[in-house]
Order: sequence, then structure tokens, then C-alpha cells
Amino acid sequence: MDRLDIKLWKLASKGQIVPDRSLLKTPEQIEAIKKSAALNTAVLDHVQAHICEGMSTAQIDKLVYDFTTEHGGIPAPLNYEGFPRSVCTSINDVICHGIPCEDEILKDGDIINVDVSTILNGYFSDASRMFTIGNISPRAEKLVRTTKECVELGLKAAKPWGHLGDIAWAINSHARANGYSVVEDIGGHGIGLEFHEDPFVSYVTPKGSEMVLVPGMMFTIEPMINEGSPDFCVDEDNGWTVYTIDGGLSAQIEYMVLITENDVEVLTK
Ligand code: MF3
Ligand code: CO
Repeated sequence: MDRLDIKLWKLASKGQIVPDRSLLKTPEQIEAIKKSAALNTAVLDHVQAHICEGMSTAQIDKLVYDFTTEHGGIPAPLNYEGFPRSVCTSINDVICHGIPCEDEILKDGDIINVDVSTILNGYFSDASRMFTIGNISPRAEKLVRTTKECVELGLKAAKPWGHLGDIAWAINSHARANGYSVVEDIGGHGIGLEFHEDPFVSYVTPKGSEMVLVPGMMFTIEPMINEGSPDFCVDEDNGWTVYTIDGGLSAQIEYMVLITENDVEVLTK
């Protein structure tokens, strides 16, 4: 047992949830994962530079596939548990996991989440942004703005040796103060050596609860914020697309972060 093992063991013996050592990345792994994350950010920048009204979500998928593979990467969603495309594109009342499609055309007033995940040299990264098409309604603008604020407040609440629940509490409080709800059963995840690692990251748990944030942990902050009910349904035909149950708008922004000795680093956003 080294000093870290003893510290983790003491916390666990007090009833705290602590990460397995396998979830704490080594300096070599961190270096490699940062390269994947840099490519992931570049893919998002590429989408941001080209996304526009009249474009199909299949064209966004092609932008992501071509750019990623031209830079030596693999889009992580492609064939992941049968997902048929390279990116998730989720418009308006779609909460997440929207499948790009030729006949889905971006139109004036739409809000869309583009969720990009990259494998580079076997290392995984993941982030998503919201884009607005043309003139959006004040209602949509407020949701997108508040979602960004939620993620930033969540990030600010993340501290080494704090808890995942601190992040959730900051996000959920701000969402609720604005009259919104946070999706409960879909959340974030550990990442780096795999696409989805432990822990599951909830954005509705109380301050001081859930896993202790130990230096070397990597995970996503990706709350889904709904205008109305937090409840959802999954498309029965494709098994992926997640819709709000009440048809209300939903927005999501995802940052991938690393807990360091004294701080939190955003690896891709
Ligand atoms: N990027 C999504 C996430 O945050 C991944 C969804 S899995 C996919 O977990 F297959 F739909 F891509
Ligand atoms: Co994710």
C-alpha cells in the first residue's frame, strides 16, 4: 500500500465512495488522452465552422467522419453498441443520441447538440456543444444560455477531494432556479481508456454525496436540461433517439475533465 492507497482506504472506511485505482490515470495515459482530446476539440471546431441552415445532420456526420479519420482518429460512436453513425445530433426536443440522417435538415430556429467522441491511438475523448440555427426564440435562447451556465457552475464546484455530488448540486440548483429540470437516468461517465468507464455521473445528487474526486480521475460533465418534465422516451424504431416525454425543448453541453492535485483541467469542450 502506498500513501494514496492508505488515504483512499481511510476514506472508504468512513463510508465514502472512492474510485478504484484503475480509474486514476497515470501521467503517460494522461498525455496520450490529452492528444485524443485535442483532436476531439478540433473536430468540434470544424463542425462549428461549417454548421448552417439547410444542412442535413448526415452532412454533419460526414464532416465528423472525414475530419477525424484524416487526422488519424476514429469516431467513437461509429458501431458503438450498434450505433450506425459517427456523431450524435440532437435537435430541439431530442435530449441525446440523435442519429444523423439525410432527410433531417437544419432549419431556422433550431437548437442542436452535436456530441463528438474520438478514439486516438486507443484513447478516448468526448465533448458536445449546442449550436443555434438562424433566429431562435427567446425561450430557446434562455435554455441554451442556462445550460452553458449550469456546466460552468458544475465545473467551478469540482474540486480535488470534493465529491461528484458537489457538481450535481451546482447544476441542479441553477437549472431549477430557472424553472428547468435535469434528466435523472442518463448522465456522465468516466472516460479515457474506454468510452464509458465508472463512475456514472448524476447531475441530480446532493452536495457532498457520490464518489470522492481523486487526482487522476477523468469524467464528463454533461447535464441534459429540459424546459418541462425530466422524463423521456426512447425511439422504438431505432432504439437510440431519446425524446422529452412532453415535447419540450432540451439542451446539453459536455465537458471532459481531469482532476489534478490542486485543480480541475478541461481536456475537451
Ligand atoms: N457521447 C455520448 C456520451 O456522452 C455517447 C453516446 S453513445 C453513442 O456518452 F453510441 F450514441 F454514441
Ligand atoms: Co459523454
